[in-house]
Amino acid sequence: MMGNSTTLRKVESMAVNQSMQAAFLPGDDKVELRTLAVPHPRHGEVLLRVKASTICGSDIRCIYHEHLGKGPEGYQGVIAGHEPSGQIVEVGPGCRRFAVDDRVIVYHISGCGVCNDCRRGYMISCTSEKYRRAYGWQRDGGMANYMIAEEKDLIALPGELSYADGAQVACGFGTVYEALEKIGINGNHSVLITGLGPVGLATAALCRKLGADKIIGIDIVRERLDLARSLKLCDFVLTAATGNVTEIRDLTHGFGVERAVDCSANALARATAIRATRKWGKIALVGEGGSVEFNPSADVIHDQKTIYGSWVTSTWLMEELVGRLVRWNLHPADIITHRFNLEHAAEAYALMASGKCGKVAVCSDEELTLK
Ligand SMILES: NC(=O)c1ccc[n+]([C@@H]2O[C@H](COP(=O)([O-])OP(=O)(O)OC[C@H]3O[C@@H](n4cnc5c(N)ncnc54)[C@H](O)[C@@H]3O)[C@@H](O)[C@H]2O)c1
Ligand SMILES: [Zn+2]
Ligand SMILES: [Zn+2]
Repeated sequence: MMGNSTTLRKVESMAVNQSMQAAFLPGDDKVELRTLAVPHPRHGEVLLRVKASTICGSDIRCIYHEHLGKGPEGYQGVIAGHEPSGQIVEVGPGCRRFAVDDRVIVYHISGCGVCNDCRRGYMISCTSEKYRRAYGWQRDGGMANYMIAEEKDLIALPGELSYADGAQVACGFGTVYEALEKIGINGNHSVLITGLGPVGLATAALCRKLGADKIIGIDIVRERLDLARSLKLCDFVLTAATGNVTEIRDLTHGFGVERAVDCSANALARATAIRATRKWGKIALVGEGGSVEFNPSADVIHDQKTIYGSWVTSTWLMEELVGRLVRWNLHPADIITHRFNLEHAAEAYALMASGKCGKVAVCSDEELTLK
């Protein structure tokens, strides 16, 4: 794993005085490319050559159209992109594990490292206002040729996985793995997924490997329903409608599903997920923002159901997921339908915002030509 000093010097001199392109999201459906100097890593940091940087529904919801996010979702005008994966080209002083040439995923929130949440590996919910900074939100992210990351935020990317696989783990697949670990999935379970965007498709892909008996997906966008069908990720796909609960009961011997995961953030879809879950079932809410209305007694209490909220994941569960992906031969990049180079980042964001796609990736070098 260790890069030798000749490589280090060579790569260092390559990066010095170089400039790079980086994408910013000023709002109003715009992407602005700026030329900046390539930064150098300080103590405990590394410089990555970004190989793949994928776009999340949260980027569109909170930043791209308009800067709507607050607190942890507040965008502070930094380089965009919170799903980066790349190769280390320069290492700052004081790094303890990673070296030049290592392939890595960036866990997308840098925490203080010493609060209780950080100590559990959940930097996502770091309680330090001063030190918590998410890549692509409050500190420079992956929509650039190079990026600085803290060594403590890195997850090793094994050779069996591509950088695009890694970028998908940085947020989407990591988030879904956490939610599925909370509700538990096995062969006794029919699973309903509301919202078949990249996060919903990731849910379906992981549920398959976890042995779910039957996977039912719902969306409103035809391209997404078609994709879930053509990738064989769902056994049944339904167009969102008021009759969905009845349709799901019909597909599950009249009972409803044992597990449901909302990846839509839509109020009606969330209510469907809750109501189409059978007695003693579990529901995970992953889609963010918006609201939901349900009747606590009729829809949850009397049927002994449990609703879980799930926010991103921990560094240790992300590492565990990477190991599982290798063991299962599961490639998250399979749900990427479009790859763009950084110069075409504006097209990439516009496509993701249209919803007429699977996952959209901005890539460089070998990742541009890979499927
Ligand atoms: N909890 C977390 O930690 C976490 C992490 C990452 C993303 N997210 C959130 O997860 C959600 C999904 O992310 P994504 O990247 O797939 O976004 P996305 O916007 O591409 O996907 C949402 C999907 O829901 C569908 N949808 C809308 N209304 C619907 C309805 N009535 N019924 C069924 N489907 C409907 C949309 O057509 C779309 O395909 C977003 O809200 C995102 O912010 C949460
Ligand atoms: Zn995300
Ligand atoms: Zn912290």
